[in-house]
Amino acid sequence: MLAGSEGQVVRQAMEIVAALGKIYEAEELVVVGSAQIAGVSYKNLGEAGLEFLEEWASQGARVRVPAFANPAGMDLQRWREMGIRSDFARQQQRVVDALSSMGVQLTCTCTPYLVGHVPKAGEHVAWSESSAVSFANSILAARTNREGGPSALAAAITGRTAAYGLHVTEKRRPTHRVDVRCQLLNEADYGALGYLVGRQVCDGVPYLRLWPDLPLGEAGLRRPTQEQLMALGAALAASGAVALYHIEGVTPEADQWPGVVEQQGLRPGTSTGRAHDAKVQAESGARLTEITIGGLDEGYAALNSPLGEIDFVSLGCPHSTLEDLQRAALLLDGHRVRATLWITTSRAVRERAERQGVVARIEAAGGQVFADTCLVVAPVEELGFKAMATNSAKAAFYAPGLSSLQSRFGTLEQCIQTAIEGRWAGSRPGGMV
Ligand code: F3S
Repeated sequence: MLAGSEGQVVRQAMEIVAALGKIYEAEELVVVGSAQIAGVSYKNLGEAGLEFLEEWASQGARVRVPAFANPAGMDLQRWREMGIRSDFARQQQRVVDALSSMGVQLTCTCTPYLVGHVPKAGEHVAWSESSAVSFANSILAARTNREGGPSALAAAITGRTAAYGLHVTEKRRPTHRVDVRCQLLNEADYGALGYLVGRQVCDGVPYLRLWPDLPLGEAGLRRPTQEQLMALGAALAASGAVALYHIEGVTPEADQWPGVVEQQGLRPGTSTGRAHDAKVQAESGARLTEITIGGLDEGYAALNSPLGEIDFVSLGCPHSTLEDLQRAALLLDGHRVRATLWITTSRAVRERAERQGVVARIEAAGGQVFADTCLVVAPVEELGFKAMATNSAKAAFYAPGLSSLQSRFGTLEQCIQTAIEGRWAGSRPGGMV
């Protein structure tokens, strides 16, 4: 491919893959099973990014493995209802047309694993949106680094990526042990936890040990729900750059590191709760830093501004599951929202919810269910919102960068009630916010 035997555009794509391999001292390339392409929103891509994609498309670039797009800057069908300008919509359409002509599926979601793209354990993939990367590595035990948009596309076109970082078993070893000594009751608690841990761990691999007294979940299991794991992973990747985490007794690779979390060591870690011991990872000689999370108040405080009036409620970061849409519909039945309510999801999940009448119930209350896009990659700064409520720690973390949008952060139930009242309706059990 590098020699150009498969054409100019394949050579360019392989140059990207090979250059990354050289930088990170990879010893081989691995075949990837799929690629998830970020950098789809015209807001982030701009003209230069659009020209790059159209150039490759015009040269006949084609993906050779299943490849699917991250959210775009608008709902591709209902962008007018979002208040998107037509010139933005035109450029956004050109972006997705270019991707589509290369064979990229327009799933436009950060939750491809909810719409049929579920890599096998141990499978190498080239995914690029940080929460999707986290879910693929941590929950599905697939292997991916956090690719950039161009490198994910290059991997899709060549069918390969360089084997460095999280493609290598040793790099999946925990770097931090996190003892969580507080209860986690809902997705917001998991998001607050992810925020607190991510900012301490940065790009490490945390091994979490949850409070043993978890409430009983589905099927009587004491384990987090899928939505809670999605919230945790998204927050870990937002305040830090965590692309893989393990949870004792929950995630598939957690039991592959016996001894890593038990040995006494030397180096003190950081703590938000109580005195801590240091641990060392004797097998490799690398140190394992211990962190204790004694409570979530600091996370909630950091993600909440003291706002009363709320004009915008945004749910669905990461993209909503069908179950979350059903929960929202139930809470909205018989009510009418005062604030603008967006719930963002993938088109496939929206269509399922539509068939069940769930979308109609949300819309009857004045809410909107948008597909293909999200709060962060849509040009919300042009829409004039002032104060937002969200159940996503990731969205609350990024909100100040979105035209200084201040935010409130709480559970889905609190956010729906806020949308109905037009005022923040949340209050943690401890009265913190
Ligand atoms: Fe997904 Fe957008 Fe949030 S891409 S994780 S919904 S910022």
